Amino acid sequence: MRTEEARPVRLADYRPPDWQVDTVDLDIALDPTATRVRAKLNLRPSADGGPPAPLTLDGEGLVLRSIALDGTALSPEQYVATADRLTIAQPPQGPFALEIETVLDPSANTELSGLYRSGTIYCTQCEAEGFRRITYFLDRPDVMAVYTTRIEATKAQAPVLLANGNLIAAGDIAGTDCHFAVWHDPFPKPSYLFAMVGGNLACVEGRFRTMSGRDVTLRIYVEPGKESRCGHAMASLKRAMRWDETEFGREYDLDIFMIVAVSDFNMGAMENKGLNIFNDKYVLASAETATDADFDRIEAIVAHEYFHNWTGNRITCRDWFQLCLKEGLTVFRDQEFTADLRSRAVERISDVRALRAHQFDEDAGPLAHPVRPAQYHEINNFYTTTVYEKGAEVVRMLKTLLGAQKFRAGMDLYFTRHDGRAATVEEFVQCFADVSSADLAQFMLWYSQAGTPEVVATGSHDAARKSYRLDLVQTVPASPDQPSKEPMVIPLAIGLVGADGRDLPLKLSEGATPDRAVLTLSKPAQSFVFADIAAPPVLSLNRGFSAPIKLVVNQSADELRFLATRDGDAFNRWQAFQTLATQLLVENAKALRTGGTARTESRLTDALRAVLADGTLEPAFVALMLTVPGEADIAREIGRDVDPAAVFAARAGLRARVGGDLGAELLERYGSLAQTGPYAVDAASVGRRSLRNTCLDLLVATGHRDSICLAARQYHAADNMTDRMAALSALSLCDVPERGEALEDFYGRYRGDPLIIDKWFSLQAVIPEPGTLDRIKALTRHGAFSFANPNRVRALIHAFALGNHKEFNRPDGAGYDFVADTVLALDGKNPQLAARLLSAFKSWRVLEPARRQRAHASLMHVAIAYSLSPDVSDIARRALSEN
Ligand code: PHE
Ligand code: ZN
Repeated sequence: MRTEEARPVRLADYRPPDWQVDTVDLDIALDPTATRVRAKLNLRPSADGGPPAPLTLDGEGLVLRSIALDGTALSPEQYVATADRLTIAQPPQGPFALEIETVLDPSANTELSGLYRSGTIYCTQCEAEGFRRITYFLDRPDVMAVYTTRIEATKAQAPVLLANGNLIAAGDIAGTDCHFAVWHDPFPKPSYLFAMVGGNLACVEGRFRTMSGRDVTLRIYVEPGKESRCGHAMASLKRAMRWDETEFGREYDLDIFMIVAVSDFNMGAMENKGLNIFNDKYVLASAETATDADFDRIEAIVAHEYFHNWTGNRITCRDWFQLCLKEGLTVFRDQEFTADLRSRAVERISDVRALRAHQFDEDAGPLAHPVRPAQYHEINNFYTTTVYEKGAEVVRMLKTLLGAQKFRAGMDLYFTRHDGRAATVEEFVQCFADVSSADLAQFMLWYSQAGTPEVVATGSHDAARKSYRLDLVQTVPASPDQPSKEPMVIPLAIGLVGADGRDLPLKLSEGATPDRAVLTLSKPAQSFVFADIAAPPVLSLNRGFSAPIKLVVNQSADELRFLATRDGDAFNRWQAFQTLATQLLVENAKALRTGGTARTESRLTDALRAVLADGTLEPAFVALMLTVPGEADIAREIGRDVDPAAVFAARAGLRARVGGDLGAELLERYGSLAQTGPYAVDAASVGRRSLRNTCLDLLVATGHRDSICLAARQYHAADNMTDRMAALSALSLCDVPERGEALEDFYGRYRGDPLIIDKWFSLQAVIPEPGTLDRIKALTRHGAFSFANPNRVRALIHAFALGNHKEFNRPDGAGYDFVADTVLALDGKNPQLAARLLSAFKSWRVLEPARRQRAHASLMHVAIAYSLSPDVSDIARRALSEN
């Protein structure tokens, strides 16, 4: 029965635990439907003296077999055990050992949280609250214990048995067909980092010598037969280990580091101590099966999980409100890693594009929340782009404000001061205050205030005084539960560009001139006056996207075109183009919505022609310059009464126009970038392919026969997945016979390979045509599809809801109905996956009235459904809330 809404968990209510667990000894006997778990916990009261507090352990769906305290079985009146809780009202005064035996059914675990089976493999997922589904425990991150894990299973079923730490014993169990393994992890850790794996797995091995000369064994475990696809993940891991040593002085600490790839996984990967468990999509890659983008993502995720060993594991979070402490910081670290390995400008532009496409929309809608939320109903719903990506931006701003040296000193202090502990955001920021003597109190608002700040910048030149004045005004929009905001500290990297394209020396008329060309805006309105500026400069502000804000500058199209071709800051060159194109696209989308026609702008394509001709630019950067702003970028700029069909039409029109106007140049560049040697994934080769395929994409956008044939030829001739997919994806946007033929061919080639068939599902999900919804419904009944596998569901359904704005937002509301019904169907089996799908409605309030009403009806349909999971009901309630 659905009664009153459950009370939220609040940061303000945090209390340290009454009990600590020093050691956990697990003894797990794997069985497909009745796995037995014995846990021996050595408990001790957190505080000395006083009467002992009751002991309340978390559980979820557990069946208790027996319970003993210091070796003596407890009598029934000494404890209360339900599926969800184990309470001992009057525990002994001092330390004691509690032995608990429970049974669970891994095969029935469709939530993929706790101990479950992926195919025939036993694996675990304990973040955030999965450990309580394995045994009764103080399942909170500020309870850190040393774990020893014994696993037994039949040798036939699970020849490989793994857990966190180092292997200390293994062998056969005499007289049976079973064997066992004992793993010991000497580093105290919270329960969410526990992991164990059992199954028939093949392994690829590598070695790494740490900076202090210790040898570490590296192992990647995969389904037998997939060993040849582990090379890139292994190489990425070694690069990540070395980078963390050189850039942060962080060394790996166990004798062995393992990665296990499984095919059923709710997220990307998980940083369990010494035993990372990965969605196999982010491990397996070869030239024939993975695109350059897949290779990049694998490298970034392998690095991300590895970096967690220090930022997340050695130093963990005091409570789940502090999630950004490990996630924002670790995303920042993986972004820096990629920037160092590849091109910094290209990485920054890609990261900002993703931030805007997802986080800015989340921040502007009903699901907005601070980087550190103050309350939650369901923690699983807070693994968001705000916590991760905006969380990374906040760390980046700290570095920008303090400078690289002090930032590193602050990180060093954080590592020494908090190693082995569960920390808070305040403690993290305090380390930077301590090394720099900066006052970071106002900076903390980045963690507590939701919403994307907007800064309006107005520049004016005074020829008589030879000065340039910059007026800045900031506002932070209201967000759920936060009607009014305080002004933020906003670091703005700045350049004043002279007519020759060079930066002018910056000298403030009053106050100290900033040493790193970064202005700090901290008041609602502030002005800066620069001296010795003889001629009007062109303002280049928020260079490198130094702050995650919406910036509005009163700049003419001429100035933007100047920056697009001359700015010394690569990010702002790209930004200037984006701004120009977005202005045009917004105007055109509005015109199309009211039955008008789209305007064309030859000066825009002329400027792009110049970029394309500039041989000094790196190809990957040119590819980004040529990429027309996304539909979400245009919709965000329109802000209200958005008509996604008009937005789509405006964008498609501009793409066709660019493809047509630059046809000859694009074709020429396409030809000259043709691959000469064998396929390679170094940054330069990747960049060339990306520009070449961008040229192809724009040519195909014209719909001209020649270009269609060119794409079809590339599709068939390709010797690698990148070129094959790029051709197919360009083709799939056109309603031409070549599309059907190529899709059929693709399925035939790769039918045995689920990860590749996912690409086939996704391509069809984003076809911008009215027939797509029926196509998707039919595909859900395809033999290769399964609602039980998160990768399949994401490839087809999430790709549609998040990647096909036009058809998800069909005027008849059928897209919303389909997604809502799918959410309800998924919810009983996998609530986390269902809730994530429902959050595709995050921007429904900005739609034009007819669609808004239909989206609202679909959301209501979900919200009033009987027996919803906490995950889905939380998203539905927040999406519908009025403030
Ligand atoms: N902690 C994981 C990461 O970001 C993500 C994750 C969260 C995985 C919850 C599973 C469950 O690296
Ligand atoms: Zn992470």
